[in-house]
Amino acid sequence: MNRVEIVVLPGDGIGPEVIYVAIDLLKAVCRQYDTELIVTELPFGGTCYEEYGSPVTEEILNKCKKAKFVLLGAVGGPQWDDLNPDKRPEAALLQLRKELGVFANLRPINVFPALSSASSLKKEILDGTDILIVRELTGGIYFGKPRFTSEENGDPFSVDTMKYSRSEVRRVAKVAFEAARLRDGRVCSVDKANVLESSRMWRKSIIELSEEYPDVELTHMLVDNCAMQIIRQPTQFDVMVTGNLFGDILSDAASMLTGSLGMLPSASIGGENGLYEPVHGSAPDIAGKGVANPLAAVASAALLCRYSLKLEGAAQQIESAIISVLEQGLRTADLFTEEPGTKLVGTDEIASALMEFVQQSENVN
Ligand code: IPM
Ligand code: MN
Repeated sequence: MNRVEIVVLPGDGIGPEVIYVAIDLLKAVCRQYDTELIVTELPFGGTCYEEYGSPVTEEILNKCKKAKFVLLGAVGGPQWDDLNPDKRPEAALLQLRKELGVFANLRPINVFPALSSASSLKKEILDGTDILIVRELTGGIYFGKPRFTSEENGDPFSVDTMKYSRSEVRRVAKVAFEAARLRDGRVCSVDKANVLESSRMWRKSIIELSEEYPDVELTHMLVDNCAMQIIRQPTQFDVMVTGNLFGDILSDAASMLTGSLGMLPSASIGGENGLYEPVHGSAPDIAGKGVANPLAAVASAALLCRYSLKLEGAAQQIESAIISVLEQGLRTADLFTEEPGTKLVGTDEIASALMEFVQQSENVN
């Protein structure tokens, strides 16, 4: 048995509920691939603030860096919204991304045929949609300096800075080009180069780099147009690469193609490190009720197998379990449409069905 250590940060709200489903399944599948997963669970976000007065501690960050691979649930909640910005749960997440150096955030938009009626878009529009959003994650306006609040003639104001350097753009674009080579060979770079200096740097840097990828088709799209095109004709996209803020917004919009934000996993990579988290938030309104959709967390665990553990078979096994559960008609509330043959279930029923699929495949193997 190979032994692999990972850190798990369940976080706040529905984070723990969805993450425990993911870990159990991950452990079971890894065992089938001769890998024993050693899990260290640590507090993070609001939960950590309650315990230590800070949403993350040096020690927790160090343990994450040491383990290299981190699976995270979600952070945030209304009870922490009024804290100083550096004490907010979101600050811990940004710090973790930065310290792990995971600059490329991969958000695959897979449309499952079984869910075509759960999307707000027509089936004809969705058919064949398969997008990989590559979002720059450790730069841009999320981290740019200066950043402050002040006052001018009695009028308070705030400043954020959107900054991109050539090297920052190149390293994330490289991930996009390489990914495109293994897919349909097309990259669409999304920016606001008609207005923003940082976007003109973004575009110029990508065009330069594209000379090293003559086999990949590069196009450019302005972010406002892109928001519209995602809904108008999602099949036109293969790999999309964009900055931190634009990627945050576009990926939430694109999640509705799959039927629910509760379906979207993400992998953040950089160097040898990997941070895996569902795209959805902590959903405080449904936390603790046993109704949360765990599939985004489970799909994030599949990405952990693919990109960090290099267990492609295990990744596919988890993804097949997700498809099987959806094809059995099991739906959490976020996906339920009263379509015949479907059944409204809670988090636990989804978890059992996933585990059953995995155990059955073990017997077949
Ligand atoms: C995401 C989230 C985070 C982000 C928040 C929680 C800081 O919305 O991962 O998309 O904006 O990056
Ligand atoms: Mn977001």
